[in-house]
Amino acid sequence: MDTLTVALGEKAYPIHVGSGLLGRSEFLLPLLRYPKTVIVSNVTVAPLYLKQLAEPLRQAGIDVAEVRLPDGERFKNWQTLQTIFDVLLQSHCERTTTLIALGGGVVGDMAGFAAACFQRGIPFVQIPTTLLAQVDSSVGGKTAINHPFGKNMIGAFHQPSLVLTDTDTLNTLPDRELRSGLAEVIKYGLIKDLSFFEWLEANIERLLVREPTALREAILRSCRNKAAVVIADEREHGERALLNLGHTFGHAIETGVGYGEWLHGEAVAVGTMMAAELSLCHGWLLRVDVERMENLFKRAGLPVYGPRLTTERYLELMQHDKKVQNGRLRLVLLRALGNAVVSDSASLNDIQSAILARSPHV
Ligand code: NAD
Ligand code: GLY
Repeated sequence: MDTLTVALGEKAYPIHVGSGLLGRSEFLLPLLRYPKTVIVSNVTVAPLYLKQLAEPLRQAGIDVAEVRLPDGERFKNWQTLQTIFDVLLQSHCERTTTLIALGGGVVGDMAGFAAACFQRGIPFVQIPTTLLAQVDSSVGGKTAINHPFGKNMIGAFHQPSLVLTDTDTLNTLPDRELRSGLAEVIKYGLIKDLSFFEWLEANIERLLVREPTALREAILRSCRNKAAVVIADEREHGERALLNLGHTFGHAIETGVGYGEWLHGEAVAVGTMMAAELSLCHGWLLRVDVERMENLFKRAGLPVYGPRLTTERYLELMQHDKKVQNGRLRLVLLRALGNAVVSDSASLNDIQSAILARSPHV
């Protein structure tokens, strides 16, 4: 097992990454100060992994309640969130009750938001079961639900007390979901870690066939990158915005086509290519850099052209981005591979051209 620390002072927490960690109750028991916990999962993940997690806790005398959410991005909303609060109240949870999120980013974001709100904040643990959640969403304390007008529009910063990443759970992950997670892995290389990008160019096929040592390396390196950014800028006053490379375009795609139609990583891959086109237009990236990015996304089985959405619709949806300041759109662009910046210098025309360059040809 490898352990990293998200060194956030009194909110610091470990990320344990390894095989066979789900049933290791010794990591969880010290956090369960009140002998009760609620595990939030969904109807797909719970039948696979919930028992393995809950049994050792029950054997140790913990009262374990369960919530099985419906599965899918389209359920990341108020109604589903309410079902978590229902169980927390029915189970007489208190301020010291620790909530456990077992699942991908959707479960983690919703359970984390429920923990942030319930009685103004209770502790929670992230047990991520998708590659995307293991490399990104379980770390850093961003929690949210979607609004019909925009992704992750309602949420809170609420750090977990522990991230427990059992890499064995990736064995059951559908291929399309694995590929979606790779988009966020590639993101770290592009933002701030050129040598990781180069490592990915050399090793992407090993990741696609789920070679355990390669997956572990990718997870650890991603988490190290993410933790460094979160430690420097927990509440996204500056550097943390860089983690949203490709996300302003990507969120517009996810919302525009309807939540769940395009997976998050798929939308981020295309969004990142749009950001690359804009960076090319600024004279920051060379065509050869854009081609390198395109090749890696393609080899990872990710799309590099978006859905049929008009540029007007993109721009309308992008106005809801959380990086908009005083009505002005700020985008994450690349000064070079491995060097991302936040910029508000792109003209509307350039943004439209970048979207068109990565839209389906008619
Ligand atoms: P997801 O949570 O929808 O999971 C993908 C699918 O895989 C689901 O059908 C799920 O039930 C299934 N699944 C999960 N684990 C499995 C396993 N081990 N075996 C078999 N099936 C499994 O999607 P995701 O890609 O994990 O997360 C996407 C979400 O994360 C989006 O809502 C996105 O906005 C959010 N996100 C949040 C952050 C953050 O910092 N909080 C960062 C990135 C993404
Ligand atoms: N996924 C972006 C962030 O955590 O800031």
